[in-house]
Amino acid sequence: MDQQVFIFDTTLRDGEQVPGCKLNTKEKLTLALHLEALGVDIIEAGFPISSPGDFESVTEISKAVKNATICGLSRAVQKDIEVAAEALKFAKRPRIHTGIGTSDYHIKAKFNATRDEILARAVQAVKWAKNFVDDVEFYAEDAGRTDNEYLARVVEAVIKAGATVVNIPDTTGYCLPQQYGEKIAYLMNNVPNVDKAILSCHCHNDLGLATANSIAGVVAGARQIECTINGLGERAGNTSLEEVVMVLKQHKHLGLYTHVNTKMLNPLSREVADTMRVPVQLNKAIVGANAFSHSSGIHQDGFLKDSLTYEIINPEEVGAEGSKIVLTARSGRSALAHRFQKIGYAFTRNDIDVLYESFLQVADRKKEVEEEDLHQLAKAYQAEPAIA
Ligand code: KIV
Ligand code: ZN
Repeated sequence: MDQQVFIFDTTLRDGEQVPGCKLNTKEKLTLALHLEALGVDIIEAGFPISSPGDFESVTEISKAVKNATICGLSRAVQKDIEVAAEALKFAKRPRIHTGIGTSDYHIKAKFNATRDEILARAVQAVKWAKNFVDDVEFYAEDAGRTDNEYLARVVEAVIKAGATVVNIPDTTGYCLPQQYGEKIAYLMNNVPNVDKAILSCHCHNDLGLATANSIAGVVAGARQIECTINGLGERAGNTSLEEVVMVLKQHKHLGLYTHVNTKMLNPLSREVADTMRVPVQLNKAIVGANAFSHSSGIHQDGFLKDSLTYEIINPEEVGAEGSKIVLTARSGRSALAHRFQKIGYAFTRNDIDVLYESFLQVADRKKEVEEEDLHQLAKAYQAEPAIA
């Protein structure tokens, strides 16, 4: 039987940590309602102790969202947890996300502590959070570089303390997909009470591997992915929501699915880009402006014969405007004929052969040949067909 992967959206928390992307409560609330409509299971609404503004955002989102779980971040610190609980008090489904660094880098440099001391603080934090909510997620920060044996001890202890979800973040985006998958598999096989909680993937994109790592994680047994719209987040960003959702949808043989309404992916991507004032890179998978554009002659010819030759996703399925045949100096005759036809010219093959020569001259001068250029080429040709 196919299994659900829960989508934990952290656009409003990790995504909002992008410099210059700070959102006010109204902006956060609007995006939260749209994320809920998209079908994400959990919305990490903010880090309530970090500022009064974020506290207010988490409170307002908790009041307004009806179906998704609302999550507030905290450190493994009593006061943080209490403030998160207070901000979440109106949520129908509240979750506190608490945690601490577990790699030796964090244990020594950040906390000047021992592994046993950190384990004890992790357990205390989960127990404290359980006083306020049933649903407690624990994050083992920098789990990507944490020794697996020690990590397994931490995971076992926090589940025993009541954690319902255990987040295994590759905080620095260091892991290779195989390593990250093996880490999750190690925990699935070596934590005796692992069946009492869900393991979660939270992968950063410092080496461009966040999506691959998250997929490796769920293939190995994790059942939650933490991600953001457009892959926004600290430094090189987080796992991109649209990518993981579409990987699972495209590769049905994995037996994993999400509840995301994929038709909303492009509109929401644009809304997040506009609200956060971070444009989407042109070649971004699924939501980039060029994700469904075809510009070379070989590709265009194949695509026009059968779109499946060069497109694995129907643009409609992800709410994109549609496939585009872009005319450049690398385009071929079939693309030119297609574009002429689209704007109302019924040229023969011989006409196109002549027109193609003048088209190439324009294309060599300009980056892209536009509709207006086509009209001019057509007019010149119709006036004097032989020398257009
Ligand atoms: O990257 C990370 O480790 C985090 C945690 C706070 C979950 O964002
Ligand atoms: Zn993170």
